[in-house]
Amino acid sequence: MENNKKELNNSFYIENYGCQMNVSDSEIVISILFKNGFFLSKNLKEANIILFNSCSIRKKAELTLNNRLEELQYLKRKNKILFGIIGCLSKQFRDILLKKKKIDFFVNPNSYKEIPNFIKNAIIGKPYIYSNNQKNETYSDINPFYLKKITTFLSITRGCNNMCTFCVVPFTRGREISSNPYYIIEECKRLYKNGYKEITLLGQNVDSYKWNNMDFSDLLNFLAPEIPFMRIRFSTSNPHDMSDKILEVISKHSNICKHIHLPVQSGSNKILKLMNRKYTREKYISLIKKIRKIIPECSISHDIMTGFCNEEEKDHQDTIDLMNEIQYNYGYMFSYSSRPGTYAYRKLKDNVPHYVKKKRLKEIIDLQKKHSLFRMKEYVGKIQEVLIEGESKKNNQYWYGRNTQNLVIVFPKESYKIGQFTYVKITETTSATLIGKIYKDVKK
Ligand code: SAH
Ligand code: F3S
Repeated sequence: MENNKKELNNSFYIENYGCQMNVSDSEIVISILFKNGFFLSKNLKEANIILFNSCSIRKKAELTLNNRLEELQYLKRKNKILFGIIGCLSKQFRDILLKKKKIDFFVNPNSYKEIPNFIKNAIIGKPYIYSNNQKNETYSDINPFYLKKITTFLSITRGCNNMCTFCVVPFTRGREISSNPYYIIEECKRLYKNGYKEITLLGQNVDSYKWNNMDFSDLLNFLAPEIPFMRIRFSTSNPHDMSDKILEVISKHSNICKHIHLPVQSGSNKILKLMNRKYTREKYISLIKKIRKIIPECSISHDIMTGFCNEEEKDHQDTIDLMNEIQYNYGYMFSYSSRPGTYAYRKLKDNVPHYVKKKRLKEIIDLQKKHSLFRMKEYVGKIQEVLIEGESKKNNQYWYGRNTQNLVIVFPKESYKIGQFTYVKITETTSATLIGKIYKDVKK
């Protein structure tokens, strides 16, 4: 009985909010908690400790978490359950939650190793504490507990030094730090041995990876031949740090995927300057041309934000023109929300009315859909190498996978299995999904 109770007290559940890096962080946290005698519960209602891996990049992300916490308060009232918030929580949101006294502890992204102590303190009734550790951590001594099979993520840089004026990340995650290349290579080899077929190297600004004299292109160059049968992806690239050397390396290795996520944020030089993005529209466009010259088959995606401070209709038109010129394969689009602590919050006016932000957002989303369809149609009739990742959400008789360009492809299952590479002939498409049928096997 006593033993059961003890096990129960040690079970935890993690809910993720935000980006791939948060998912990857949760895998580190799970590994740390396992080492300290905790158990992962698959069911939130059976856990005694609930961790919320938070995100504050946009106001909406904070609101979502806030609503979820309200919704789950009944669990806390009923049983003695601990609520811990980990991850990218802004100081302001933390202070609001502290006042409400509904959270037992807060742990920032540099202090995950301390989570077991936070839990122990909370159990003995030392409530409402938070970590203040500013010392950057790479967690290179932790083997993450990967939640997914076949494809997964590995953070290779953490934090960010760029200080884009709209962005809260440098405040929530701290200064940029890169992981040891030996750790990265060994971890990827371990993943391959365990059946993984694709790794995505993560960083807020992954191209600025630096370890002594080694830059990101050197890392890719070392890594690619070490895991020749494994796909390598990376995200996010900042246009400012994307070098010719990186492009040459991508083009040279067949297992480095031909896709670059290159957030532009805006097509207006005035806005780019206000955002402290360290490139101009012209430099960005010439970089795209260079990518297409060096890696002709490369797909390109973007992040764009509408309604940043002082954005006028002509700035918005500049963004539309830039999109028309590039015709991206796909993109992620947001309307700007002011984030406490950032330069824009302190010094600029959030002066674009909400309905204008939304109207502009709808315009760029509609335009991107058009471009995506145009780009997808380029693949119809072609044969694509696909890694089978799972069942199609819409039809369980179909597999779901991606090509090197990171485009989603679905096709009838036949006798193939998850984790296999296969060639698929594309027969039709929507703006988001290529549809095809198996053409022949890939020998790997
Ligand atoms: N490091 C990446 C961005 C990470 S944040 C880069 O260099 O671009 C992911 C995306 O969220 C950003 O590209 C931006 O489009 C969006 N974003 C960041 N801050 C935001 C804010 N305050 N309001 C709305 N969108 C924001
Ligand atoms: Fe944010 Fe800019 Fe860094 S968007 S994560 S400050 S590159």
